[in-house]
Amino acid sequence: MSANSHFSTVANLIRESNVKKGAEIGTWKGGLSHHVLNSFSDLVWFSIDSWKYFGTDYKDGTNKEQKDLDIIYTAVKQKLSVFEKRSIIYHCLSKEASIQIANNSLDLVFIDANHLYEAVKEDINLWTPKVKKGGIVAGHDFSRKHPGVIKAVNELGLKISTGRGGVWWYQK
Ligand SMILES: C[S@@+](CC[C@H](N)C(=O)[O-])C[C@H]1O[C@@H](n2cnc3c(N)ncnc32)[C@H](O)[C@@H]1O
Repeated sequence: MSANSHFSTVANLIRESNVKKGAEIGTWKGGLSHHVLNSFSDLVWFSIDSWKYFGTDYKDGTNKEQKDLDIIYTAVKQKLSVFEKRSIIYHCLSKEASIQIANNSLDLVFIDANHLYEAVKEDINLWTPKVKKGGIVAGHDFSRKHPGVIKAVNELGLKISTGRGGVWWYQK
């Protein structure tokens, strides 16, 4: 399965749920953000990422040196600039961005930042209130490689759907 197989699952959710405003928590190189903004001409999309080095304790392929993350951020800004006002980038921690977005204002949130249990739990708690009733709360990497994601999502005690590319979601 390709590394980007979650792109089509998220695009299907956007299409099926008629999403007009969504947010991606953890943007990395902007691949998913670009894909959905390019696929849906009336979509407004928040791309949220700290692009910040978290120190040696955080083992993750995206936890690069700050100078590399700065280069990635600059490239993402450039890549998404073609979408003009439909693309809103928050270069800050998930927690800081969440304060700036109104409750019940999003049709979909896609949680794909730090995959450790406490962090996923925190992101679910921070971002679920931002989604309108009937909207979609979703995330990435519901897989054995990421037990923290599975644990945090299962603790919701809800009927969760899963799809291609390790995407999980439920309708609020
Ligand atoms: C797995 S990557 C995201 C991949 C992206 N969603 C995609 O599909 O291409 C995780 C990203 O989350 C970001 N991240 C980790 N912890 C974060 C936090 N607390 N706040 C904001 N971003 C965070 C990292 O900088 C990294 O770019």
